[in-house]
Amino acid sequence: MNKDLLTLRDLTKEDIGAIIKRGEEFKRGSLKNVKSLEGKTIGLIFDKASTRTRVSFEVATHRSGGNAIFLTPSDTQIARGEPIKDTARILSSYLDGLIVRTYAQDQLEELAEWSRVPVINALTDLYHPCQILSDLMTVDEKRGTLDNLRVAWIGDGNNVANSWINAATILEFDLTMACPQAYEPKPDILADTSTNVKLVNTPQEAVRNATIIYTDVWASMGKEDETERRIKDFTGWQVDQSLIDLADKDVLVMHCLPAHRGEEITDEVMEGPRSIIFAQAENKLYAHQAILEMMIKP
Ligand code: CP
Ligand code: NVA
Repeated sequence: MNKDLLTLRDLTKEDIGAIIKRGEEFKRGSLKNVKSLEGKTIGLIFDKASTRTRVSFEVATHRSGGNAIFLTPSDTQIARGEPIKDTARILSSYLDGLIVRTYAQDQLEELAEWSRVPVINALTDLYHPCQILSDLMTVDEKRGTLDNLRVAWIGDGNNVANSWINAATILEFDLTMACPQAYEPKPDILADTSTNVKLVNTPQEAVRNATIIYTDVWASMGKEDETERRIKDFTGWQVDQSLIDLADKDVLVMHCLPAHRGEEITDEVMEGPRSIIFAQAENKLYAHQAILEMMIKP
């Protein structure tokens, strides 16, 4: 395992399995007395909004006996242009771990390079690895296994999609992606995958034989100015009941949230019997406890 968790590629198949198993144990309540972060202080540097990731990581830190400090760049010297390499060295001399949500993946990489302590990616424009770890925990919890997993990704080839590509490559499950033209994942990300990741032209084709249907917003954070154009370009790419009806009867529907009901997904599907979306959100707390335990050494 690497010092940092910047993409899922920093983890092995065994690491991912261990995080899922440990997350499930945290959820069952059998690890209440495990205080792996006793005496540790974790910094959260968030450059973009967050409800789930921020709060679940803060609570996970407290439950594991540690302290969390939340920092917005605008409150620090980062906003006034202090170089990342200086910030990283200073903060990592006070803190035991850094959880970072920002725009550019290369800025996160630079921070990690100069940080003495582990850096965990809490979302960049390119990846959202922690999301997929709690998602996989949820899939395992709901299906009882990760075997024979066939994931259909419908919509934007964004950060969450890229992390699903990484997961499919490491765990070797089938991932079929339907993205409107010009919204596919970047060629270099697609090039770095195994053959079980494929692109198809329509959502209908993608969901055939799927065990999981996953979607996300059409305009991610940082792309808000493209919202109007994207709403036009994504017409016909909504996850609605008629799409679910084309899939396996046991298909499960996932979304990382926040969702825009009536755009990428209908209210009916979100609230319907195939949705495991709220379990996904809840499980972030337990998966994050497991991630922290693995990444932050005693
Ligand atoms: N899914 C997710 O990362 O949600 P937040 O943006 O609320 O953290
Ligand atoms: N793709 C979304 C995920 C939010 C958790 C975004 O980046 O805004």
